[in-house]
Amino acid sequence: MANILVTGGAGFIGSHTCVELIKAGHKIVVLDNFVNSDVESLTRVKTICVTDFPVEKGDVLDTGFVRSLLKKHKIESVIHFAGLKAVGESVEQPLAYYNNNVVGTYSLLSAMNDAGVHKIVFSSSATVYGDPQVLPLTESHPLSATNPYGRSKLIVEDMLRDLYKSDNQWQISILRYFNPCGAHQSGLIGEDPKGIPNNLVPFVAQVASGRREKLNIWGNDYDTPDGTGVRDYIHVVDLAEGHVKALESLSVGSGCVAVNLGTGKGYSVKEVATAFGNAAGTAIPYIIANRRPGDIASCYADCSFAKEYLNWSAKRNLVDMMTDHWRWQQNNPDGYSDCTN
Ligand code: NAD
Ligand code: UD1
Repeated sequence: MANILVTGGAGFIGSHTCVELIKAGHKIVVLDNFVNSDVESLTRVKTICVTDFPVEKGDVLDTGFVRSLLKKHKIESVIHFAGLKAVGESVEQPLAYYNNNVVGTYSLLSAMNDAGVHKIVFSSSATVYGDPQVLPLTESHPLSATNPYGRSKLIVEDMLRDLYKSDNQWQISILRYFNPCGAHQSGLIGEDPKGIPNNLVPFVAQVASGRREKLNIWGNDYDTPDGTGVRDYIHVVDLAEGHVKALESLSVGSGCVAVNLGTGKGYSVKEVATAFGNAAGTAIPYIIANRRPGDIASCYADCSFAKEYLNWSAKRNLVDMMTDHWRWQQNNPDGYSDCTN
């Protein structure tokens, strides 16, 4: 069972992946600077798994520190979640995004190279497909970016492909997530957005709990069945299980392979709001607002390669996603900031 460094392990997807890694028998070490998370998420991972693991507070930009961790903990592979992820913020602060996401990954890869660690699973995003030309999206769809966040993911993907070409002892898995939501069934860990949520499901959850008055639906004149945007929502625990499969696939051989992690099914904004309302036992009030700049009509994955390559497919449906997200929201109306009580 491998020693795995999980960068950004205190975050939304990272914390759920830590649980699944431990469940699968792996030994983990978390590196996080807590810029967008709380150490409480890791305390709760330890509660769920009834185990302990090292947590190292630090920055992936600090190459020397990362190198020392890789050696100290005899790390064999890395799952790299650490990064900034807000599209709007990336337009306002492109340098912060290029520094954290691109230079941060460069720093991590340099430290790994120095320490002789060559296995990495990287968090990419369906955003690298830009405005889809053909649906469902296969991994061979042309890549493009429409904002600095997306471009930072694309640059790192290219950096990883170049790295493998130059030295094929690298074993690299690039995971392109569609729209993660939901929470662990325990209700102990989940997404804890700072400020007003940008993404649909956390926003709807705050409407259901009464923290926000209504949902603004960003446009109902898209070329979709009900006119609202269609996305491929995926339960975060399915996503976490996909990481375990991806990590284990790295032991099979070298390569640099990109894989879609989605469900293959698209749901509209109205369908999500209705499903969340059903889970929460309350209607979600909404108004139709203008389109959000940069939004696309529809985006959903072709997941056949994940099935073939990783023997993975998503098991949880929209009802599971909404039910689990609602449990987390109800139990933690103010996220992890409740934990000091
Ligand atoms: P998150 O913000 O909850 O988690 C990211 C974690 O990385 C946080 O704990 C943060 O404190 C940490 N971090 C950030 N910069 C760091 C640095 N320089 N050094 C050390 N730690 C640092 O985000 P998430 O939703 O869990 O996303 C994880 C990854 O997946 C990100 O790379 C994100 O871009 C990518 N992704 C997320 C989504 C999504 O919708 N959540 C979709 C596609 C891709
Ligand atoms: C957004 C990001 C994308 C990122 C993805 C997952 C943008 C332009 N894109 O995509 O880069 O990879 O999150 O993190 O931000 N919606 C509303 N009202 C809301 C919120 C959302 O109607 O208050 C709609 C959107 O218009 C969209 C759908 O809900 O049709 C999903 O939105 P969101 O959760 O932000 O995800 P994406 O737009 O797919």
